[in-house]
Amino acid sequence: MIVMGIESSCDETGVGIVEWNDDATTTLLADEVASSVDEHARYGGVVPEVASRAHLEAMVPTMQRARAAAGVDRPDAIAVTIGPGLAGALLVGVAAAKAYAAAWDVPLYAVNHLGGHVAVDTLEHGPMPACIALLVSGGHTHLLRVDDLGSPIVELGTTVDDAAGEAFDKVARLLGLGYPGGPALDAIAAQGDPTAIAFPRGMTGPRDARYDFSFSGVKTAVARFVEKCERAGDPVPVADVAASFQEAVADVLTRKAMRACEDTGVDTLVLGGGATANSRIRSLTEARCADAGVTLRIPKPRLCTDNGVMIATLGAHVIAGGAPPSALTVATDPGMSV
Ligand code: KG4
Ligand code: ZN
Repeated sequence: MIVMGIESSCDETGVGIVEWNDDATTTLLADEVASSVDEHARYGGVVPEVASRAHLEAMVPTMQRARAAAGVDRPDAIAVTIGPGLAGALLVGVAAAKAYAAAWDVPLYAVNHLGGHVAVDTLEHGPMPACIALLVSGGHTHLLRVDDLGSPIVELGTTVDDAAGEAFDKVARLLGLGYPGGPALDAIAAQGDPTAIAFPRGMTGPRDARYDFSFSGVKTAVARFVEKCERAGDPVPVADVAASFQEAVADVLTRKAMRACEDTGVDTLVLGGGATANSRIRSLTEARCADAGVTLRIPKPRLCTDNGVMIATLGAHVIAGGAPPSALTVATDPGMSV
């Protein structure tokens, strides 16, 4: 069974094609992504209308490239992200998926973007046992419990304000590191002292929700620190600020992920989302998983960021799990929870 996945929830137009094998593994046949990130750079964040227009231009060519790369004229099924994401951006992918499903007379499967970030790991690391998933990107920060990829996922917690990657981008901007600044901040943090400044660990108090996150406090603390330096006429110790901020975010993310593993007794943790490229999030998660005897699974960076392959892979699992196809009238669900 060959499944095409279409992704357009944010600023990446992704079309992936996978083959579902009899041994419940999937093989990657094509992975085409067109990103509009450069068009958003001058605004310092994703502009929904710009993203929608970029999807509109990129969708059909990206689909054609994917079909050519896979040598597949017509897949057996189409999976598409219906949410969560930007309303206008999602509409483009869903409209394309419906049009092709109707034209090719193949079933359509509407899937959740977040599940895709988890499912994509099976491409490299094989079938997925029950796991806790920590998704961190510019658009989301979620702690999930996944018992089976073909079944609904349980959300344990999410951010109450900024997404983790968004906090990285905003702090990078404060430090004059450009957009999206996460990678630049990570690079400069390597030269700083992560213990130099004790930035707050949001929502880690005894009365806070066990699995929710908040990153606006640490972002504001960085802004106050920078202002204080500027008022005093002191140079901002950019590397120390970056390293200390990164440490605070990585600490909270991994602490809550480990807590979820411990509370549920689930001993596999999957990381996903673009911000898992962060060196400290990785190294701290690796260390804490090793201490706790938890198996850590991280897809390669190319598959951690938004793409169509993750949607195709999730779609393949949903189909194999026996779910009925979606109606061609299925609607987008920008605020979709899991
Ligand atoms: O999944 P992704 O590519 O897309 C969206 O969220 O749309 O994630 C991108 C996010 C950005 O916020 C970027 O700054 C962040 O991931 N990011 C990083 C690193 N690499 C990417 N944040 C911190 N450290 C990194 N090395
Ligand atoms: Zn994503």
